[in-house]
Amino acid sequence: MKTYICQICGDAYIGTEKPHDCPFCGATQNFIKLGSEAYPIVNQKEEIGELSKKNLLETLELEKTANALYLCMANKADKYEIKAMYKRLAKVELEHAIIVTKLLGIARPEPKEELCSDDMLENFQKTIELEDTATNLYARFAKEAVEKNVKIFFTALSQVERGHIELIKSYLSE
Ligand SMILES: [Fe+2]
Ligand SMILES: [Fe+2]
Repeated sequence: MKTYICQICGDAYIGTEKPHDCPFCGATQNFIKLGSEAYPIVNQKEEIGELSKKNLLETLELEKTANALYLCMANKADKYEIKAMYKRLAKVELEHAIIVTKLLGIARPEPKEELCSDDMLENFQKTIELEDTATNLYARFAKEAVEKNVKIFFTALSQVERGHIELIKSYLSE
């Protein structure tokens, strides 16, 4: 067994092999390092300019909304797989919100509440819309960032949210 650490969220994964994606924040494998070689962005002190601050605060709100929506969708799901999948998505989005608060050095996110549909097909569509918005927004924020770690963070996040779209689409094609 070895300890692997995610460069984005800083969480440790213990296992025999490097996971394909971070189990906590979803960052792709290239962001996961052997414990001894990791220096997570959340542990690095970096001065953050006004534009990135604004973009990170917008991200915080979006991630909190996603977390609340996915918890609602998990509650509405009657199939256990879908319930479990939405609970995991909710945790991943909460992790993203937590990373933002660490980068900004502010208090942990307060949970919020969101309403969702009783119709899972509508919830799937809403999820794709939300993730599509996030993917594009974070790609733009990555471009706008002049800070090294903020750029890395938004690049990683944009990829994670794009992966979520593929996940939901796989259920729609069933
Ligand atoms: Fe991670
Ligand atoms: Fe997210």
